[in-house]
Amino acid sequence: MDKKFRVGIIGCGQIAKYLHVPDYARCPQAEVVAFCDIDVVKARALAQEFAPDAQIFHDFSMMLKEMDLDGVSICTPNYLHGPATIAALKADCHVLVEKPMATSSVEAQKMVDAAKKAKKLLMVDQTQRLFPAHVKAKEVLDSGLMGKILVVNSMFGHSGPENWSPTGKWFFKKKEARFGAMADLGVHKADLIRFLTGKEVAEISGYMNRLEKKNSDVEDNFVSSFTFTDGTMGTLCASWTVKGCEANYTIFHCANGTLRVCEFPGKPVVAYLVNPQCEIEFPTAQAATNDDDEWGLNACGNFVLASLGRATPFCTGEDAKKSLDIILAAEKSALTGKSVKLNH
Ligand SMILES: NC(=O)c1ccc[n+]([C@@H]2O[C@H](COP(=O)([O-])OP(=O)(O)OC[C@H]3O[C@@H](n4cnc5c(N)ncnc54)[C@H](O)[C@@H]3O)[C@@H](O)[C@H]2O)c1
Repeated sequence: MDKKFRVGIIGCGQIAKYLHVPDYARCPQAEVVAFCDIDVVKARALAQEFAPDAQIFHDFSMMLKEMDLDGVSICTPNYLHGPATIAALKADCHVLVEKPMATSSVEAQKMVDAAKKAKKLLMVDQTQRLFPAHVKAKEVLDSGLMGKILVVNSMFGHSGPENWSPTGKWFFKKKEARFGAMADLGVHKADLIRFLTGKEVAEISGYMNRLEKKNSDVEDNFVSSFTFTDGTMGTLCASWTVKGCEANYTIFHCANGTLRVCEFPGKPVVAYLVNPQCEIEFPTAQAATNDDDEWGLNACGNFVLASLGRATPFCTGEDAKKSLDIILAAEKSALTGKSVKLNH
């Protein structure tokens, strides 16, 4: 049997626990051999559950120096994504970094350049590309059934990161998070609309505000309108103040009708066509494991196989930088009160 792909985890909080580490545990080609967190209790707890023989570190530089790793998952607060990625690439590791990939466009470019220099793979965990409903929506749009896309509306909102990561106080601190809802959730949809339409955003106007999260110095709401380079129009919104149920939908108004994705519970992908007038519900593949495991997306399995040259990466650093640039342009627009053009 081939030698296993040796993985280190940097940051052992919620996304490491629910997505990365279980994903690697399901991947026969990989083994997690090191866990690093400044809170070693969290690193130990994760190791105990998934890989009791793994080494524990509180400093990622030490982990990268002492372990002979093939790849790392970076699951830290946002401000560490850039530095940890560059350190890992310099240590000859392939990298899967969490979104938002960086805190600025310049930093994102440095990460992409560092990967090229090291001849290693840099991937960004834009997980929405892997949701079964989004895979199906892409298939439907690519088939031509809907005709030309005219307008796209996409929204991601929930009640706030405190309900996802109770210890993750950093989400509300600009120094560590850099952005609030617009990059925590908005970057998912900025990436998704690019992925589903194959189009690039040309110009964007944004607004942001902190409406309820008073003990925070980042925005809790963000709305924007944009045009793609071909004139297709859209809106992109993100919120940490959506209550009662999550909003995580994308609607495509097209020449032949409307495609609604994840808007209605129990109807993940539904097309309303005008000629002939009909409604088509599309079945979606289950997540990789079972219905109860909403994170069974196999993001890390793809990362391992892509690093080994046996699969196409679902989202490279270069690709994800374009999604981050949309959010940065929207923020600039919100701060200046003017629409902002993107360079392509
Ligand atoms: N892809 C997705 O769908 C998705 C979902 C949730 C979160 N995320 C992203 O994942 C990242 C982590 O989010 P989370 O919800 O797991 O947060 P979290 O607060 O639960 O976990 C972050 C962990 O990083 C640790 N940490 C902080 N500084 C460190 C350092 N210097 N070295 C090592 N570890 C350090 C913290 O102690 C904590 O355990 C964020 O960037 C977030 O945007 C992505």
